[in-house]
Amino acid sequence: MGLYERRICPHVTELALRGGWAHKLRRQLLAPVAGRVLEIGFGTGLNLQHYTDAVTELAILDPGEGMHRLARERIAASPLAIEAHRLGAESLPFPDARFDAVVCTFTLCTVADPSAVARELHRVLVPSGSLHLVEHVGSSSPRLRRWQDRLNPVQKLVACGCNLNREVEPLLEAAGFGSLALERLSEPRMPPLLRELVRGTAHKGAA
Ligand SMILES: C[S@@+](CC[C@H](N)C(=O)[O-])C[C@H]1O[C@@H](n2cnc3c(N)ncnc32)[C@H](O)[C@@H]1O
Repeated sequence: MGLYERRICPHVTELALRGGWAHKLRRQLLAPVAGRVLEIGFGTGLNLQHYTDAVTELAILDPGEGMHRLARERIAASPLAIEAHRLGAESLPFPDARFDAVVCTFTLCTVADPSAVARELHRVLVPSGSLHLVEHVGSSSPRLRRWQDRLNPVQKLVACGCNLNREVEPLLEAAGFGSLALERLSEPRMPPLLRELVRGTAHKGAA
């Protein structure tokens, strides 16, 4: 991992994703999350303040050394007992059906192998479990989508592996999630190429 990824990316991520609009999305997304929870792509820990008392265990996972450094104070200040792993989510160190809920915010855009990650998230959930996510995705405007495709190689370089043009629904369906309760929204405070978001819940089994 290079200096840019270790020293600059964590600060870029923090600045880009700590705005009031993102906090509101995080709070709404995490309100129903309960029980034994896994968060992947934990980043600098911006979700931590939004977990409620209904969370009994929290495991977090992120391969980024710099991310862990910035998250440390938030982890120390949290009332939750947190089990932290410095790993990618393509191969999770947990048995099947270990978690009641998985949380993933602005991370499927960045993981190296999103199909493998989606399969692993499905595997570690209990049968009644669900994945709670918010992600920026490929635009439904053909003009913006063309720009996303053109600029994706540049975005990956400057934004620490983040892809502009990934889709979420096909990934989750292919991984075996039984029902998706996802909605698309447009966030005007994000740049146009990152504005279209998908948020909601993917249930492991049929709803
Ligand atoms: C854009 S940041 C989002 C951070 C955080 N989820 C948030 O909402 O603020 C993407 C995160 O995914 C992490 N990441 C990159 N590759 C990953 C992988 N293979 N598995 C899990 N997380 C990964 C990065 O280190 C980074 O912390």
